[in-house]
Amino acid sequence: MTAISETAEWKALERDGADLGGVSMRSLFAKDHSRFARFSLEAAGLFADFSKNKITDDIVQHLLALAGAAGVEQRRAAMFGGEAINSTEDRAVLHPALRDPDGDYRAMGEPVSGLVRAQLEKMKSFCGQVHNGAVKGYTGKSLDTVVNIGIGGSDLGPQMAVEALRPYWIDGRRAFFVSNVDGQHLADTLAQADPETTLFVIASKTFTTLETLTNATSAREWFLKSGGAASDVAKHFVALSTNADAVAAFGIDRNNMFEFWDWVGGRYSLWSVIGLSIALQVGFDNFKKLLAGAHAMDAHFRDAPIAENMPVMLALVGVWNRNFQGIGAHAVLPYDQHLLRLPAYLQQADMESNGKRISVDGAAVTHETGPIIFGEPGTNGQHAFYQLLHQGTDIVSADFIAPALSQSAVGDHHEKLLANFLAQTEALMRGKKLEEARADLTAAGIGASDVDRLAPHKVFPGDRPTNSIVMERLTPETLGALIALYEHKIFVQGVIWGINSFDQWGVELGKALAKNILPELGAQGETKAAAKTHDASTNGLLNWVNTVRGRAK
Ligand code: F6P
Repeated sequence: MTAISETAEWKALERDGADLGGVSMRSLFAKDHSRFARFSLEAAGLFADFSKNKITDDIVQHLLALAGAAGVEQRRAAMFGGEAINSTEDRAVLHPALRDPDGDYRAMGEPVSGLVRAQLEKMKSFCGQVHNGAVKGYTGKSLDTVVNIGIGGSDLGPQMAVEALRPYWIDGRRAFFVSNVDGQHLADTLAQADPETTLFVIASKTFTTLETLTNATSAREWFLKSGGAASDVAKHFVALSTNADAVAAFGIDRNNMFEFWDWVGGRYSLWSVIGLSIALQVGFDNFKKLLAGAHAMDAHFRDAPIAENMPVMLALVGVWNRNFQGIGAHAVLPYDQHLLRLPAYLQQADMESNGKRISVDGAAVTHETGPIIFGEPGTNGQHAFYQLLHQGTDIVSADFIAPALSQSAVGDHHEKLLANFLAQTEALMRGKKLEEARADLTAAGIGASDVDRLAPHKVFPGDRPTNSIVMERLTPETLGALIALYEHKIFVQGVIWGINSFDQWGVELGKALAKNILPELGAQGETKAAAKTHDASTNGLLNWVNTVRGRAK
């Protein structure tokens, strides 16, 4: 297979990158008044402006040609058709089937939509019974608190969505998320929970994950110590998993298990029964709206021509920045406090999907793949790391995300938030030239020698690429569309880079080594023999920790 970086389409883009050299975005905007209209798209309740990237019509044409050369449309059809596009695990990738329960999807030929409908019905019925109090705890009280125990995709998605949909929370209901194997996470959470009214939702695709099983076991012990009997566990513990045997081995009854399947990737699973904590917190109808919003984006992604296709265009602009502008980091900057967890969610979605160096055919790639993803809600990030975005030596691309209307308007806060949202992308694009900095200082009455001294510090190079994604309001539907937009963007980039976006072998080595090290760690007060089998650094650290733990009472 010809490496994508050896194709004529790739070479054309390399030439574009070199030719664009000294051209500034400012000048591109100045000479082209229809730039915004041409480089923006609306779909599924979202409006995306990618005009503040260093692109031209020719570059966009060449990027579209690259998508053609990489077979984006064929791979898209293969995904929706349920082919085993996750080649290293021999699995289909069919999260769109979860948001289209009335559809008729097949995973590697096997019909799946009936299974999806059955699990949705089970979720609906369970949510209804929890909400109307028909499902009761061991002392007869209603279950008003959920503690979701999971990690990675079994935590980040539901947690992000529950936070994003705060205005839709059912009165009196509480949701907590425990992920870290650090016992403090569980202990801090249980300190706020009442065993009589708490439902533990154990979320794990594999049901073998160390962190989740450790937390679930300790949660069960806490429940038993706090007054519950072994026969009451069934009333307070449910499992969300693909692994019925492991769920049973843990001691959760099959009736208390909500099921999903291997064609749902962990980081693409919030749409499956992994979304139970979302549905319990915001109601099943709102969960369905979340699915509907994602489905609207799926339909757009599947049917729109690639030049008018929002996920495809965002992916292509990202490829341009990553591979032809040398940008290695990408910030996700939601101007909405409720999207607090979106950057963390997208870190997993993007970096676990596209942080890879081996192509689907087993050869090392000859180009860069996924960037480093990070972010914080605006305006907090502005007072933290935006300094580097504006004036640092590395260029970072960014997505700015904002609703035009707040879910909970307070005074003129939202106008101030939006003014900052708009100003930041303008500043990052325009920058400030030396003569402008000098003119500003002079106008402020600064003396000539201070103008000389200060002006270089007040220069902003500009030309820092951003996308802006706006919506009317953050609702279950627009949240669904936003997440699906990113999922498909990640998919398209993976296709162009020739990698499998749906496996995650990179998490295995550390897990295996931790298993080896665990028996070498002493308990508090225990004396351990000096470790010798690792490198000097690991031995030294292990011995230092064991010494401190050994002398602790
Ligand atoms: O970090 C690796 C990973 O497999 C993720 O892909 C996944 O979301 C997470 O662990 C949790 O896995 P599980 O849902 O099987 O517990």
